[in-house]
Amino acid sequence: MGTIRVKLHELLNCLSGAQDLADPRLSNHHQQVAYLSYRFAEHLGLKNGEKNDIFSAALIHDVGALSKKERLELIEDEPVDVNSHGFRGAKLFKDFKPLKKASEIVRYHHVPWNGGEGQLFGGELVPFSIHIVHIADRVCAQIRPKRDILSQVSSIVGSIEQRNGTVFEPSLVEAFKELAKKEFIWFDLQSPLPMRRVEFEGNRMLHLGISDLLEFAHIISQIIDFRSGFTARHSAGVAKTAAEVARLMRFSKKDVKLIEIAGYLHDLGKLAIDNGIREKKGSLTESEFNEIKRHPYYTHVFLSAVKGLKKIDKWASFHHEKMNGDGYPFSAGGRDLPLGSRIVAVADVFTALTEMRPYSEGMDKENAVRALREMAASGALDAAVVDVLIKNIDHINEIRFASQQEAVIRYREFFKEEAQAAD
Ligand SMILES: [Fe+2]
Ligand SMILES: [Fe+2]
Ligand SMILES: [Fe+2]
Repeated sequence: MGTIRVKLHELLNCLSGAQDLADPRLSNHHQQVAYLSYRFAEHLGLKNGEKNDIFSAALIHDVGALSKKERLELIEDEPVDVNSHGFRGAKLFKDFKPLKKASEIVRYHHVPWNGGEGQLFGGELVPFSIHIVHIADRVCAQIRPKRDILSQVSSIVGSIEQRNGTVFEPSLVEAFKELAKKEFIWFDLQSPLPMRRVEFEGNRMLHLGISDLLEFAHIISQIIDFRSGFTARHSAGVAKTAAEVARLMRFSKKDVKLIEIAGYLHDLGKLAIDNGIREKKGSLTESEFNEIKRHPYYTHVFLSAVKGLKKIDKWASFHHEKMNGDGYPFSAGGRDLPLGSRIVAVADVFTALTEMRPYSEGMDKENAVRALREMAASGALDAAVVDVLIKNIDHINEIRFASQQEAVIRYREFFKEEAQAAD
């Protein structure tokens, strides 16, 4: 099987970059923290491996805060409960080998130094690097994006110094005072893409192959879907349905995997859309629908920024396009739609029709077949793809159902400990 190589950091940015787009006040928070954490690590003379882990952890440190509201609160102030979103973030990535160490940092990134007691949490030793991400996080949270950055420096330095030894580790406070003298660092932090301002030696090693990519895309799909019980299983159904249709249509083994990845990532852009609109019962207003229409556009913006994902980008980002050109947001017609995109579009519709949602049962087989046929006849969906799906509908539906059941179990598991803690 052919292979692909994708930079881990570019992928991580798809995830947190999309989340940070949800509100201007979040202004690239993850990229800023990753950039500044890296400058700390460099200043302290840490090894490449450690720098990489710190940079990766910082790029995803708040992704466990699934709602925009929670993320904005984290910018406003240090959370009362130091570990909830950190634990959630770590839980998502803990079994993913390339981020094993980074997930430990994510877990504890709000633990205060507390005169040295912050070397432990719950009796367990925490990595020293968490204190780097912690201080970088609190510095970046204070930056006001629209104000002259250099005029903000002295008050930021003062507020960090005030918490020297209590919240922040003393040698890091000293390091910060040195770093704060370098004006270029502040200019980098306020630039639109701070992450791009660090290119480092270790970058070479941070490539993912196809099976890691599949695992990673699966994790991202959970972050997209777990934000709401409404969609908690959607992407898994689309991914597995698309992969099976592609297999039946004689895609190569590699392309079957790539289309599964595209299925997991097709709604990536939804991370940038307000949850309130996504969960709304009843019909959407025109401007709410206009907002929803942005999501495949954002999927494209982020996936196209990752080198090596061209095919996946096209297959994922065109899932609301129609054969007759009436889809959104690219108004691409049949001629511009590769077979992979048409398959993901059919898999998306089929999954949406048949899956159970909190307020509705899924459609039964007869009605789903009728709806799919109508959409093929009207020029919305590709007739040949619809045909393959209908011919194999029982078998495909079983696969779809099983993958969604598994996603529901993961969803319950994910929130179980918190639900228990709240009881
Ligand atoms: Fe945080
Ligand atoms: Fe943060
Ligand atoms: Fe979508």
